[in-house]
Amino acid sequence: MPYLAADDRYSHLPYRRCGRNESAPPAISLGLWQNFGGVDSAETGRQIILKAFDRGVTHFDLANNYGPPPGSAESMFGEIINDDLKPYRDEIIVSTKAGYRMWDGPYGEWGSRKYVLASLDQSLRRMKLDYVDIFYSHRLDPDTPLEETVGALETAVTSGKALYVGISSYSPEATREAHKMLKDRGIRTLIHQPSYSMLNRWIENGLLDTLQELGIGCIAFSPLAQGLLSDKYLKGTPNDARASREGSFSSKLLTPENLERVRALDAIAKKRGQSLAQMAIAWVLRHPTLTSALIGARTVAQLENSLDAMKNTAFSKEELAEIDKHAKDGALNLWSTSAAAKPVKD
Ligand SMILES: NC(=O)c1ccc[n+]([C@@H]2O[C@H](COP(=O)([O-])OP(=O)(O)OC[C@H]3O[C@@H](n4cnc5c(N)ncnc54)[C@H](OP(=O)(O)O)[C@@H]3O)[C@@H](O)[C@H]2O)c1
Repeated sequence: MPYLAADDRYSHLPYRRCGRNESAPPAISLGLWQNFGGVDSAETGRQIILKAFDRGVTHFDLANNYGPPPGSAESMFGEIINDDLKPYRDEIIVSTKAGYRMWDGPYGEWGSRKYVLASLDQSLRRMKLDYVDIFYSHRLDPDTPLEETVGALETAVTSGKALYVGISSYSPEATREAHKMLKDRGIRTLIHQPSYSMLNRWIENGLLDTLQELGIGCIAFSPLAQGLLSDKYLKGTPNDARASREGSFSSKLLTPENLERVRALDAIAKKRGQSLAQMAIAWVLRHPTLTSALIGARTVAQLENSLDAMKNTAFSKEELAEIDKHAKDGALNLWSTSAAAKPVKD
């Protein structure tokens, strides 16, 4: 049976403008960093993506290296967007990125013109798309002049291969410089993609203010701190959880301090009548500069649970104060090197 999208798909989520830009992603977007690679079940991935679209998630976030193996999430997504979702392409925002290592040799990562533009071509081929909606610089290159990376982003737009550009994990200073260079070239910086959660609040120290001032949107990734902000680790580590797999979420991050914070936050979520995962998403969205919470999901049930966060997004002053007591930095920001890097000037 060909897929037919749900008629009521636009009745579930609000769509929030990217700063002063018109483009408006859903309040919750879905990322394909993990669970959608060549090693994962393509059928489960398809079910998650189609359920997300049925519930109003119009934005799917990718990067050249998502998998494993690298590239396989784009290939998998390419099948779905060109098959099930083909009639809906104009309703969907697809993003991809270049910055992390993708191929061997000196031109296989970072921010050179050669790498960034070759990577975009490869991404389009894997996804069998003519263009992506948003193309990101995935991390600041500490060795290549920012002007060169920005020039490559400009070419992505002027060549019609990307509609908008974004930056990810750039510091406030680097954001300001990239924004100015792009503006001088007539290109708007649509959106910034930083990590942000109750246990990783670095963007509150300047980045959010900078984005608000410059009118750039903000899509916060890993709002569940890779799954830690749920009740799953409170009684040990389940075999199917991310911390049990090789990769980005080391079980060393499950420190007694972090688990104590999670336990206290879980109790607050229960009092609000929602899961901790739902409260974690609602909490990042409380900030008016926040455009979208960029979640991951391993199962359809997780996705549905997370999307139900929208049923209760209001916080009282007392609740926020109580959350603040436990929402402390848990040393979970794996992307802090990029945010600490200084842009190289010409
Ligand atoms: N720009 C960048 O550098 C960058 C870096 C990282 C991520 N991202 C983007 O952000 C997206 C999301 O990252 P993320 O996967 O780390 O986000 P996340 O939402 O913080 O974590 C997702 C994980 O949490 C668990 N989970 C999800 N929903 C749940 C629920 N309702 N209840 C309990 N557990 C739940 C699942 O892990 P289990 O398998 O443990 O159940 C799931 O894979 C990525 O796909 C990518 O698009 C960008």
